[in-house]
Amino acid sequence: MLIDGKPHRTIWPAPDGAVEIIDQTRLPHAVVIARLETLDDVVRAIADMQVRGAPLIGVTAAWGLALAMRADSGDGALAEASRRLKVSRPTAVNLAWAVDRVVSVLIHLLPAHREAAARAEAAAIAEEDVAACRAIGEHGADLIADIAARKDGRPVEILTHCNAGWLATVDWGTALAPIYVAQARGIAVHVWVDETRPRNQGAALTAFELGQQGVAHTIIADNAGGHLMQHGRVDLALTGADRITRTGDVANKIGTYLKALAAVDSAVPFHVAAPASTIDWRLSDGVAQIPIEERGGEEVTHISGALADGSIARVQVSAPGSPAANFAFDVTPGRLITGLITERGRCDASEAGLLGLYSERRRLAGI
Ligand code: MRU
Repeated sequence: MLIDGKPHRTIWPAPDGAVEIIDQTRLPHAVVIARLETLDDVVRAIADMQVRGAPLIGVTAAWGLALAMRADSGDGALAEASRRLKVSRPTAVNLAWAVDRVVSVLIHLLPAHREAAARAEAAAIAEEDVAACRAIGEHGADLIADIAARKDGRPVEILTHCNAGWLATVDWGTALAPIYVAQARGIAVHVWVDETRPRNQGAALTAFELGQQGVAHTIIADNAGGHLMQHGRVDLALTGADRITRTGDVANKIGTYLKALAAVDSAVPFHVAAPASTIDWRLSDGVAQIPIEERGGEEVTHISGALADGSIARVQVSAPGSPAANFAFDVTPGRLITGLITERGRCDASEAGLLGLYSERRRLAGI
């Protein structure tokens, strides 16, 4: 998608064998390209959230294995790289999914062939992610079109949480892809952007990419969504996901659950967009089984932003000395979700719904 009118992706291989990313800790105030040359660089980029968003951290981890194989392609190094990447962030299953996929290819190869094979597999995962997000965009835009048909030309009002746009994937995004496709189809949309404390992915990243794409949007405080829904100002709530159980429970950025509760109370459709790599077919109870990342309390007590002179400052917003807890994700039970949007189409947030789209899983699970 666009930055300053030019198409970009979030990650790409450099000609010299390194990997380059847009450093998302610098957005929206500066567009900075960071180089990843080693496994350490990749683990740090994921943990410190220079790259973030479930599909993107999966793709980055795949490239991390390629960089690890450049330094040492033995079995021990492969096992250690895979272990370190998998624990770099625990909630988004795309990370372990991508690592397991690359390892399943490399493990059968002689060490001398592993770096090239890892690079090919990482590139393939990235391309598949772009295609999946594009397809999610088409399926989700059909949903937006249905709503638009009832609005007499007035914009479809969509509320989103966190950033599930192209910055969270390789390109297009998940929850924002339908908005970009709807815009391309000439459908008027306006997006309510939850700021998404504590790291402000909504205010910093979603607002940035919608602005760059020319999509009408308004940033709101995280607590405003329920009020807007009660007053008929939201036609559709649309978020991404970090992990979806086979029963349709969804882990996503902290605060998603509260938006789903408010949506149910106000009869606002609440949809979740994600590719198949976000579905964890092993799990049946999201609240009990999905690991929730806890990050440092300083992300809650401190905030950074641009001063009037353009310089970046970090300030404390809390009472000095008070401890803070920082739960990064929560789980929305499938019963609160109107529907899932995947690259294969839309379905109920339930086991029957998901198996209807992914019938090969029925055979694998012997159901
Ligand atoms: O902590 P983050 O910024 O990685 O969290 C991102 C989200 O919660 C997204 O909604 C999710 O990964 C879906 S991204 C297409």
